[in-house]
Amino acid sequence: MAELQEVHITEEKPLLPGQTPEAAKEAELAARILLDQGQTHSVETPYGSVTFTVYGTPKPKRPAIFTYHDVGLNYKTCFKPLFDYGDMQEIIKNFVRVHVEAPGMEEGAPVFPLGYQYPSLDQLADMIPAILQYLNFSTIIGIGVGAGAYILSRFALLNPDVVEGLVLINIDCNAKGWMDWAAHKEELSGHSELVQQYRDIIMHAPNLENIELFWNSYNNRRDLNFERRGDTTLKCPVMLVVGDQAPYEDAVVECNSKLDPTKTSFLKMADSGGQPQLTQPGKLTEAFKYFVQGMGYMASSCMTRLSRSRTASLTSRASIDSGRSRTTSQSSESGIVPSGSPGHTMEVSS
Ligand code: BEZ
Repeated sequence: MAELQEVHITEEKPLLPGQTPEAAKEAELAARILLDQGQTHSVETPYGSVTFTVYGTPKPKRPAIFTYHDVGLNYKTCFKPLFDYGDMQEIIKNFVRVHVEAPGMEEGAPVFPLGYQYPSLDQLADMIPAILQYLNFSTIIGIGVGAGAYILSRFALLNPDVVEGLVLINIDCNAKGWMDWAAHKEELSGHSELVQQYRDIIMHAPNLENIELFWNSYNNRRDLNFERRGDTTLKCPVMLVVGDQAPYEDAVVECNSKLDPTKTSFLKMADSGGQPQLTQPGKLTEAFKYFVQGMGYMASSCMTRLSRSRTASLTSRASIDSGRSRTTSQSSESGIVPSGSPGHTMEVSS
Protein backbone atom coordinates (compact mmCIF):
# COMPACT_ATOMS: atom_id res chain seq x y z
CA MET A 1 0.00 0.00 0.00
CA ALA A 2 1.23 3.51 -0.74
CA GLU A 3 2.54 5.37 2.26
CA LEU A 4 1.56 8.89 3.14
CA GLN A 5 4.61 11.06 2.85
CA GLU A 6 4.25 14.60 4.17
CA VAL A 7 6.53 16.96 2.29
CA HIS A 8 6.38 20.72 2.63
CA ILE A 9 7.16 22.80 -0.41
CA THR A 10 8.89 25.43 1.67
CA GLU A 11 11.31 22.88 3.13
CA GLU A 12 14.91 24.12 3.03
CA LYS A 13 17.75 21.69 2.33
CA PRO A 14 21.42 22.56 2.92
CA LEU A 15 23.40 22.82 -0.33
CA LEU A 16 26.26 20.41 -0.95
CA PRO A 17 29.66 22.11 -1.33
CA GLY A 18 29.89 23.65 -4.80
CA GLN A 19 26.22 22.96 -5.60
CA THR A 20 24.13 25.75 -7.14
CA PRO A 21 20.55 26.19 -5.86
CA GLU A 22 19.28 25.20 -9.34
CA ALA A 23 21.29 21.95 -9.36
CA ALA A 24 20.11 21.20 -5.83
CA LYS A 25 16.48 21.71 -6.84
CA GLU A 26 16.89 19.47 -9.89
CA ALA A 27 18.54 16.75 -7.82
CA GLU A 28 15.80 16.99 -5.23
CA LEU A 29 13.08 16.70 -7.87
CA ALA A 30 14.80 13.77 -9.55
CA ALA A 31 15.16 11.95 -6.22
CA ARG A 32 11.57 12.72 -5.28
CA ILE A 33 10.24 11.36 -8.55
CA LEU A 34 12.49 8.29 -8.62
CA LEU A 35 10.93 7.32 -5.33
CA ASP A 36 7.49 7.83 -6.70
CA GLN A 37 6.29 4.36 -7.50
CA GLY A 38 2.93 4.77 -5.86
CA GLN A 39 3.93 7.17 -3.12
CA THR A 40 1.50 9.58 -1.62
CA HIS A 41 2.36 13.23 -0.99
CA SER A 42 0.55 16.19 0.49
CA VAL A 43 1.02 19.85 -0.35
CA GLU A 44 -0.42 22.90 1.31
CA THR A 45 -2.62 25.20 -0.77
CA PRO A 46 -4.59 28.34 0.09
CA TYR A 47 -7.63 26.05 0.54
CA GLY A 48 -5.96 23.45 2.74
CA SER A 49 -3.84 20.41 2.18
CA VAL A 50 -4.29 18.17 -0.88
CA THR A 51 -3.06 14.61 -1.27
CA PHE A 52 -1.95 12.86 -4.45
CA THR A 53 -0.21 9.63 -5.40
CA VAL A 54 2.39 9.39 -8.13
CA TYR A 55 3.19 6.32 -10.24
CA GLY A 56 5.79 5.97 -12.98
CA THR A 57 8.74 8.03 -14.05
CA PRO A 58 8.31 11.36 -15.84
CA LYS A 59 9.16 11.22 -19.53
CA PRO A 60 10.73 14.32 -21.05
CA LYS A 61 8.33 16.39 -23.14
CA ARG A 62 5.34 14.29 -22.15
CA PRO A 63 2.37 15.42 -20.12
CA ALA A 64 1.49 13.67 -16.88
CA ILE A 65 -1.73 11.67 -16.79
CA PHE A 66 -3.65 13.40 -14.03
CA THR A 67 -6.79 11.83 -12.55
CA TYR A 68 -9.57 13.17 -10.36
CA HIS A 69 -12.16 10.79 -8.86
CA ASP A 70 -15.90 11.12 -8.27
CA VAL A 71 -17.79 11.71 -5.02
CA GLY A 72 -17.92 8.62 -2.79
CA LEU A 73 -14.72 7.20 -4.26
CA ASN A 74 -10.98 7.73 -3.91
CA TYR A 75 -8.29 7.33 -6.54
CA LYS A 76 -8.03 3.59 -6.02
CA THR A 77 -11.73 2.76 -5.95
CA CYS A 78 -12.30 5.03 -8.95
CA PHE A 79 -9.32 4.20 -11.18
CA LYS A 80 -7.46 1.05 -10.11
CA PRO A 81 -9.39 -1.37 -12.38
CA LEU A 82 -8.66 0.89 -15.36
CA PHE A 83 -4.96 1.44 -14.63
CA ASP A 84 -4.45 -2.23 -13.72
CA TYR A 85 -6.07 -3.40 -16.95
CA GLY A 86 -3.65 -5.45 -19.10
CA ASP A 87 -3.77 -3.41 -22.31
CA MET A 88 -3.55 -0.18 -20.34
CA GLN A 89 0.04 -1.00 -19.36
CA GLU A 90 1.42 -0.31 -22.82
CA ILE A 91 -0.10 3.17 -22.68
CA ILE A 92 0.72 4.20 -19.12
CA LYS A 93 4.32 3.00 -19.25
CA ASN A 94 4.88 6.10 -21.40
CA PHE A 95 3.55 8.52 -18.79
CA VAL A 96 3.90 9.49 -15.17
CA ARG A 97 0.52 9.32 -13.42
CA VAL A 98 -0.69 11.65 -10.72
CA HIS A 99 -3.84 10.64 -8.87
CA VAL A 100 -5.34 13.42 -6.77
CA GLU A 101 -7.74 12.88 -3.93
CA ALA A 102 -10.29 15.44 -2.81
CA PRO A 103 -9.59 16.49 0.80
CA GLY A 104 -10.76 13.91 3.33
CA MET A 105 -11.20 11.15 0.74
CA GLU A 106 -7.80 9.50 1.28
CA GLU A 107 -7.73 6.06 2.90
CA GLY A 108 -7.68 6.58 6.66
CA ALA A 109 -8.42 10.33 6.43
CA PRO A 110 -9.70 11.67 9.75
CA VAL A 111 -13.21 13.10 9.86
CA PHE A 112 -13.15 16.89 9.51
CA PRO A 113 -14.04 18.80 12.66
CA LEU A 114 -17.56 20.15 13.00
CA GLY A 115 -17.89 23.48 11.19
CA TYR A 116 -15.04 22.73 8.76
CA GLN A 117 -15.65 24.63 5.52
CA TYR A 118 -15.10 22.14 2.70
CA PRO A 119 -13.62 23.74 -0.46
CA SER A 120 -15.98 24.49 -3.32
CA LEU A 121 -15.36 22.66 -6.61
CA ASP A 122 -13.78 25.87 -7.96
CA GLN A 123 -11.40 25.92 -5.00
CA LEU A 124 -10.58 22.23 -5.52
CA ALA A 125 -9.62 23.15 -9.08
CA ASP A 126 -7.50 26.01 -7.74
CA MET A 127 -5.51 23.53 -5.62
CA ILE A 128 -4.15 21.76 -8.72
CA PRO A 129 -1.40 24.30 -9.62
CA ALA A 130 0.31 23.65 -6.25
CA ILE A 131 0.56 19.95 -7.13
CA LEU A 132 1.97 20.62 -10.60
CA GLN A 133 4.42 23.13 -9.18
CA TYR A 134 5.56 20.66 -6.55
CA LEU A 135 6.20 18.00 -9.21
CA ASN A 136 7.53 20.52 -11.71
CA PHE A 137 5.12 19.32 -14.42
CA SER A 138 4.05 21.80 -17.03
CA THR A 139 1.25 19.92 -18.85
CA ILE A 140 -1.28 17.17 -18.19
CA ILE A 141 -3.80 14.87 -19.82
CA GLY A 142 -6.71 14.83 -17.35
CA ILE A 143 -9.04 11.94 -16.66
CA GLY A 144 -11.96 12.85 -14.40
CA VAL A 145 -15.18 11.17 -13.31
CA GLY A 146 -18.31 13.06 -12.19
CA ALA A 147 -17.19 15.75 -9.74
CA GLY A 148 -13.60 15.04 -10.81
CA ALA A 149 -14.52 15.71 -14.45
CA TYR A 150 -16.07 19.02 -13.44
CA ILE A 151 -12.99 20.02 -11.39
CA LEU A 152 -10.59 19.20 -14.24
CA SER A 153 -12.78 21.13 -16.69
CA ARG A 154 -12.78 24.17 -14.43
CA PHE A 155 -8.99 23.88 -14.15
CA ALA A 156 -8.70 23.60 -17.94
CA LEU A 157 -10.86 26.70 -18.47
CA LEU A 158 -8.52 28.67 -16.22
CA ASN A 159 -5.28 27.05 -17.42
CA PRO A 160 -5.77 26.18 -21.10
CA ASP A 161 -2.03 26.01 -21.77
CA VAL A 162 -1.53 23.35 -19.12
CA VAL A 163 -4.17 20.85 -20.26
CA GLU A 164 -3.28 18.92 -23.43
CA GLY A 165 -6.33 16.65 -23.35
CA LEU A 166 -9.29 15.69 -21.18
CA VAL A 167 -11.21 12.46 -20.74
CA LEU A 168 -14.43 13.45 -18.97
CA ILE A 169 -16.60 10.62 -17.69
CA ASN A 170 -20.16 11.41 -16.50
CA ILE A 171 -19.62 15.15 -16.61
CA ASP A 172 -22.46 17.50 -15.73
CA CYS A 173 -21.43 21.02 -16.65
CA ASN A 174 -24.57 22.67 -15.27
CA ALA A 175 -25.16 24.00 -11.81
CA LYS A 176 -27.60 21.82 -9.97
CA GLY A 177 -31.00 23.42 -9.45
CA TRP A 178 -33.68 21.81 -7.32
CA MET A 179 -35.60 20.86 -10.48
CA ASP A 180 -32.63 18.86 -11.74
CA TRP A 181 -32.23 17.29 -8.36
CA ALA A 182 -35.84 16.06 -8.41
CA ALA A 183 -35.48 14.81 -11.99
CA HIS A 184 -32.23 13.03 -11.14
CA LYS A 185 -33.86 11.31 -8.18
CA GLU A 186 -36.66 10.08 -10.42
CA GLU A 187 -34.18 8.90 -13.00
CA LEU A 188 -32.18 7.09 -10.37
CA SER A 189 -35.23 5.22 -9.18
CA GLY A 190 -35.21 3.49 -12.57
CA HIS A 191 -31.59 2.37 -12.07
CA SER A 192 -31.78 0.19 -9.03
CA GLU A 193 -28.49 -1.60 -9.84
CA LEU A 194 -26.64 1.71 -9.96
CA VAL A 195 -28.28 2.94 -6.80
CA GLN A 196 -27.29 -0.30 -5.08
CA GLN A 197 -23.71 0.01 -6.39
CA TYR A 198 -23.39 3.51 -4.91
CA ARG A 199 -25.17 2.57 -1.73
CA ASP A 200 -22.67 -0.28 -1.20
CA ILE A 201 -19.66 1.95 -1.83
CA ILE A 202 -20.91 4.74 0.36
CA MET A 203 -22.28 2.60 3.19
CA HIS A 204 -18.88 0.94 3.52
CA ALA A 205 -16.92 4.16 3.35
CA PRO A 206 -15.19 4.87 6.65
CA ASN A 207 -15.33 8.64 6.11
CA LEU A 208 -19.00 9.15 5.39
CA GLU A 209 -19.08 12.62 6.98
CA ASN A 210 -16.28 13.80 4.68
CA ILE A 211 -18.02 12.33 1.64
CA GLU A 212 -21.13 14.29 2.54
CA LEU A 213 -19.09 17.52 2.55
CA PHE A 214 -17.65 16.76 -0.91
CA TRP A 215 -21.15 15.83 -2.11
CA ASN A 216 -22.52 19.17 -0.85
CA SER A 217 -19.78 21.03 -2.73
CA TYR A 218 -20.66 19.06 -5.86
CA ASN A 219 -24.33 19.93 -5.50
CA ASN A 220 -23.46 23.60 -5.03
CA ARG A 221 -21.28 23.78 -8.12
CA ARG A 222 -21.59 26.69 -10.54
CA ASP A 223 -22.52 26.28 -14.16
CA LEU A 224 -19.34 25.84 -16.23
CA ASN A 225 -21.00 28.09 -18.84
CA PHE A 226 -19.43 26.36 -21.82
CA GLU A 227 -20.15 28.20 -25.05
CA ARG A 228 -19.66 26.36 -28.30
CA ARG A 229 -18.61 29.49 -30.16
CA GLY A 230 -17.46 31.63 -27.28
CA ASP A 231 -14.33 32.07 -25.22
CA THR A 232 -15.57 29.91 -22.35
CA THR A 233 -14.74 26.61 -23.89
CA LEU A 234 -12.27 23.78 -23.59
CA LYS A 235 -9.41 24.43 -25.99
CA CYS A 236 -7.88 20.94 -25.86
CA PRO A 237 -9.07 17.63 -27.36
CA VAL A 238 -11.84 16.21 -25.18
CA MET A 239 -13.29 12.71 -25.00
CA LEU A 240 -16.67 12.65 -23.28
CA VAL A 241 -17.65 9.25 -21.92
CA VAL A 242 -20.94 7.98 -20.53
CA GLY A 243 -22.64 4.63 -20.13
CA ASP A 244 -25.72 4.39 -22.31
CA GLN A 245 -28.87 4.53 -20.20
CA ALA A 246 -26.85 5.85 -17.28
CA PRO A 247 -28.57 8.70 -15.44
CA TYR A 248 -25.80 11.09 -16.55
CA GLU A 249 -26.46 10.44 -20.23
CA ASP A 250 -28.52 13.58 -20.86
CA ALA A 251 -26.04 15.77 -18.97
CA VAL A 252 -23.11 14.46 -21.04
CA VAL A 253 -25.10 14.83 -24.28
CA GLU A 254 -25.82 18.44 -23.32
CA CYS A 255 -22.18 19.06 -22.52
CA ASN A 256 -21.26 17.61 -25.91
CA SER A 257 -23.59 20.09 -27.59
CA LYS A 258 -21.80 22.99 -25.86
CA LEU A 259 -18.20 22.06 -26.72
CA ASP A 260 -16.17 22.67 -29.86
CA PRO A 261 -17.15 19.81 -32.22
CA THR A 262 -13.75 19.86 -33.92
CA LYS A 263 -12.10 18.98 -30.62
CA THR A 264 -14.67 16.81 -28.91
CA SER A 265 -15.45 13.11 -29.23
CA PHE A 266 -18.37 11.45 -27.54
CA LEU A 267 -18.12 7.85 -26.41
CA LYS A 268 -21.28 6.16 -25.29
CA MET A 269 -20.69 2.72 -23.88
CA ALA A 270 -23.16 -0.09 -23.94
CA ASP A 271 -23.41 -2.44 -20.97
CA SER A 272 -21.38 -0.21 -18.71
CA GLY A 273 -23.75 1.10 -16.03
CA GLY A 274 -22.89 4.26 -14.17
CA GLN A 275 -19.10 3.96 -13.87
CA PRO A 276 -17.68 2.84 -17.25
CA GLN A 277 -14.09 3.00 -16.00
CA LEU A 278 -14.96 0.28 -13.47
CA THR A 279 -17.30 -1.88 -15.52
CA GLN A 280 -15.68 -1.60 -18.98
CA PRO A 281 -11.97 -0.91 -18.46
CA GLY A 282 -11.14 -2.73 -21.71
CA LYS A 283 -13.36 -0.55 -23.87
CA LEU A 284 -12.17 2.59 -22.17
CA THR A 285 -8.53 1.55 -22.56
CA GLU A 286 -9.04 1.07 -26.26
CA ALA A 287 -10.72 4.45 -26.66
CA PHE A 288 -8.03 6.10 -24.54
CA LYS A 289 -5.35 4.62 -26.79
CA TYR A 290 -6.95 6.29 -29.79
CA PHE A 291 -7.29 9.51 -27.88
CA VAL A 292 -3.64 9.56 -26.84
CA GLN A 293 -2.54 8.53 -30.32
CA GLY A 294 -4.61 11.39 -31.74
CA MET A 295 -2.48 13.71 -29.64
CA GLY A 296 0.64 12.19 -31.17
CA TYR A 297 1.84 10.27 -28.11
CA MET A 298 1.48 6.66 -29.20
CA ALA A 299 3.38 5.06 -32.06
CA SER A 300 1.11 3.25 -34.49
CA SER A 301 3.04 0.03 -33.78
CA CYS A 302 1.19 -0.02 -30.48
CA MET A 303 -2.10 -0.10 -32.29
CA THR A 304 -2.02 -3.59 -33.76
CA ARG A 305 -4.67 -5.03 -31.50
CA LEU A 306 -6.88 -2.05 -32.12
CA SER A 307 -6.55 -2.35 -35.87
CA ARG A 308 -7.45 -6.01 -35.65
CA SER A 309 -10.54 -5.14 -33.71
CA ARG A 310 -11.70 -2.96 -36.57
CA THR A 311 -12.82 -6.03 -38.45
CA ALA A 312 -13.71 -8.10 -35.43
CA SER A 313 -17.21 -9.25 -34.85
CA LEU A 314 -18.49 -7.04 -32.08
CA THR A 315 -21.10 -8.18 -29.67
CA SER A 316 -20.61 -5.52 -27.04
CA ARG A 317 -19.80 -2.16 -28.45
CA ALA A 318 -19.28 1.47 -27.76
CA SER A 319 -19.57 4.33 -30.17
CA ILE A 320 -17.54 7.51 -30.44
CA ASP A 321 -19.16 10.44 -32.15
CA SER A 322 -18.16 13.97 -32.74
CA GLY A 323 -20.21 16.69 -31.11
CA ARG A 324 -21.05 17.84 -34.62
CA SER A 325 -22.91 14.78 -35.63
CA ARG A 326 -24.57 13.43 -32.53
CA THR A 327 -26.61 14.44 -29.64
CA THR A 328 -28.93 11.50 -29.63
CA SER A 329 -28.63 8.23 -27.81
CA GLN A 330 -28.19 5.90 -30.78
CA SER A 331 -25.08 3.78 -31.26
CA SER A 332 -23.46 3.85 -34.65
CA GLU A 333 -22.21 0.72 -36.34
CA SER A 334 -19.53 2.12 -38.64
CA GLY A 335 -15.85 1.21 -38.46
CA ILE A 336 -12.96 2.31 -36.30
CA VAL A 337 -11.08 5.49 -37.00
CA PRO A 338 -7.66 4.91 -35.52
CA SER A 339 -6.66 8.53 -35.12
CA GLY A 340 -8.65 9.34 -32.04
CA SER A 341 -9.60 12.49 -33.88
CA PRO A 342 -13.01 13.97 -33.28
CA GLY A 343 -15.60 14.10 -35.99
CA HIS A 344 -15.76 10.38 -36.54
CA THR A 345 -17.55 7.36 -35.26
CA MET A 346 -15.60 4.61 -33.65
CA GLU A 347 -16.39 1.22 -32.22
CA VAL A 348 -14.22 -0.59 -29.78
CA SER A 349 -14.26 -4.24 -28.93
CA SER A 350 -15.05 -5.36 -25.43
C1 BEZ B 1 -1.30 3.61 -11.80
O1 BEZ B 1 -0.49 2.77 -12.19
O2 BEZ B 1 -1.30 4.76 -12.25
C2 BEZ B 1 -2.29 3.24 -10.75
C3 BEZ B 1 -2.02 2.20 -9.90
C4 BEZ B 1 -2.95 1.85 -8.91
C5 BEZ B 1 -4.14 2.57 -8.80
C6 BEZ B 1 -4.40 3.60 -9.68
C7 BEZ B 1 -3.49 3.93 -10.65
